[in-house]
Amino acid sequence: MQNNCQLIGVDDAFPLRITSESMRSPEYFRKEVDLCFVKNWILVGRVEEIPEAGSYITKDLPFGHASILIVNTKNGIKGFRNICRHRGNKIACAAAGQARAFTCTFHGWTYDCDGKLRGVPDEEAFLDLDKARLGLIPVHIDTWNGFIFVHLGNEIPAPLKEYLGDLYGFFNGFDFDKLNVTWSFKTEVEANWKICFDGFLEQYHFAFSHRTTVANTFLAPDNRFGRLGWHQWWDPHCVCSITGNPSPRRPPIGKVLGGPNVAGSLPPEPFVISKNMNPTQDDNWELDSVMLFPNFLIQAHPKSYNVWWFWPVSATKSVFEYRRYERAARNAGERFAQEYYLSLVRDTFLQDLFAFEHVQQSISSGAIDEFPLSLSEARVAYLHHQVNKRLAREHDPVIEGEGDVCSS
Ligand code: FES
Ligand SMILES: [Fe+2]
Repeated sequence: MQNNCQLIGVDDAFPLRITSESMRSPEYFRKEVDLCFVKNWILVGRVEEIPEAGSYITKDLPFGHASILIVNTKNGIKGFRNICRHRGNKIACAAAGQARAFTCTFHGWTYDCDGKLRGVPDEEAFLDLDKARLGLIPVHIDTWNGFIFVHLGNEIPAPLKEYLGDLYGFFNGFDFDKLNVTWSFKTEVEANWKICFDGFLEQYHFAFSHRTTVANTFLAPDNRFGRLGWHQWWDPHCVCSITGNPSPRRPPIGKVLGGPNVAGSLPPEPFVISKNMNPTQDDNWELDSVMLFPNFLIQAHPKSYNVWWFWPVSATKSVFEYRRYERAARNAGERFAQEYYLSLVRDTFLQDLFAFEHVQQSISSGAIDEFPLSLSEARVAYLHHQVNKRLAREHDPVIEGEGDVCSS
């Protein structure tokens, strides 16, 4: 009975259940955004998106109505609030580009790539304008394995390396920089961000939701219900290793193409992964899955990787963003294999999103306060636990002073 309530081997045991309140309450949402997103490192992109000095990207962060400008400068990567200091227009409107300076399209104020205000049309008409104090507002920024993180908090945050903790060295050696985005997908979902993230933290639903798509690839005869295999709790993140079906059914076209499957649609080529990956050295290893708190998922395969963002918009709405990274196709056959894989992913996502919105509707109805989870869904419980823990600390400063004391 004890095992139904708590997981063994976790420093601060957490309950195998989740509450409706955390997925429907605007008040809970407001605190969650402040404590888990605004005051936290948030992953926003990759260094390959800004390859040279003057390259930039912008990223809208729906949770804080914020837009961030990330610029590659001669002095390193810098991040700013994407807000003109004159009257608040966005200083860069494109998702990505190349610039020597940024000129606001409203009244023409100009900033250099380091964020300094350099030009103000008809400057003499302003009384006492102190340009030195009106540069773009910087945000904290750091990188890890080529992933760019920002921190919107006012106080100086814990260093990213410290925040990542045991996860920091996990991907050492993985050739992230050899792969490019071959497909991306972004959509609004009428569901709380955790409902969406939860759906990618367990395989218990595969036998049912995905019986026509990826179930046969992942579910082996001795693991028909997608039980959780090797995993680690690396507070506040977690990682697990996922194996597949040793003898999957292949559709006829799959045989022709040499077997496109979810482990990667292109034939192998020299590609280095981290020595830490496939920790059980399983012959049927498919991928390692990292939940990077609060809202990012990396699935690293033998020669590709996929990433997801689950952006909070409101208590009952989120933005779901996916990118697939692999090497470019070298011929029409490889391109066809990629498209085949992507159609499989698309169908799988539709099955997921269909369920997520139904779940939200039920939770919003208020009919049920709490839901039970299995050991196969422990990562779901862990994500909710990490959020609850932060909210509990805010309520009880004594607990905050004592470190990782769990409220459960
Ligand atoms: S708002 Fe940017 S120049 Fe006026
Ligand atoms: Fe799914």
